[in-house]
Amino acid sequence: MKYIKHLALASALVAAAALAFAAPVAENWENHCAKCHGADGKGQTKVGKKLNVKDYTKADVQGKMSDEDIIKATKDGVLDKSGKEKMKAYKGELSEAEIKEFVGYIRKFKG
Ligand code: HEC
Repeated sequence: MKYIKHLALASALVAAAALAFAAPVAENWENHCAKCHGADGKGQTKVGKKLNVKDYTKADVQGKMSDEDIIKATKDGVLDKSGKEKMKAYKGELSEAEIKEFVGYIRKFKG
């Protein structure tokens, strides 16, 4: 019984540590995404304009992507029609939970 208690405590500590290491979504957006998509989601940065990044404050742009699209694009990246990389994949850099948090974050740009 004592062993089980310790096990539960240990896994609670591991979970807390994992949470502490995951950066808040706003920080992740700033560090990984804002360069192209803009801090405000409009994509009006130097690189964003060059790559023709869409304006995520627009309802019609938001309407065209599902939550799954957002997760998939962030995980696997985005290719253009000829298969050239437009946006890199983040699955190696960010956790599944961190990637999922972008859905709510991006939806908020719509205002
Ligand atoms: C090097 C520039 C660049 C960076 C950095 C970048 N993106 Fe993108 N992203 C693009 C381009 C280009 C597109 C394709 C055009 C568009 O949909 O705006 C795109 C598309 C998307 C889409 C739309 C997918 C769809 O189905 O319409 C989402 C969501 C997205 N990016 C999220 C992110 C997130 C989250 C990050 C940070 C973890 C990020 N991007 C970082 C350039 C970038």
